[in-house]
Amino acid sequence: LATTEVDLSKVEAGQGIVVSFRKQPLFVRNLTPAEIAEADKVDVKSLRDPETLEQRTRGKKNWLITLGVCTHLGCIPQGITSGEDRGQFGGYFCPCHGSQYDTAARIRKGPAPKNLFVPDYKFTSPSTVVVG
Ligand code: FES
Repeated sequence: LATTEVDLSKVEAGQGIVVSFRKQPLFVRNLTPAEIAEADKVDVKSLRDPETLEQRTRGKKNWLITLGVCTHLGCIPQGITSGEDRGQFGGYFCPCHGSQYDTAARIRKGPAPKNLFVPDYKFTSPSTVVVG
């Protein structure tokens, strides 16, 4: 299966980009310290799909790499670019049926059953990641 190399050097804290990964949108977001703190203060046991930010970012914490595909019925959530509606929990908002994701892209409210999917990836330099 195809891999996608992503250059992170121009993605500043608070920004995100969308790249194409196996014909699907991939969200790559550089979380701010405040967004990381927000994700870390959540009681993981209270979550529908319990995962820590640490687990979801494989320890990197600021680089949140997920598919941009809502786990309800597959719409593309908003919020990857900073001008878009990031919803009630500061992550992503799916306009199709109102699913709300937090700054770790975990489902917090609305019909989606799972967090946004984290694909396999590895960093090949501090500013390069290969996804897939
Ligand atoms: Fe996202 Fe239904 S497809 S809430």
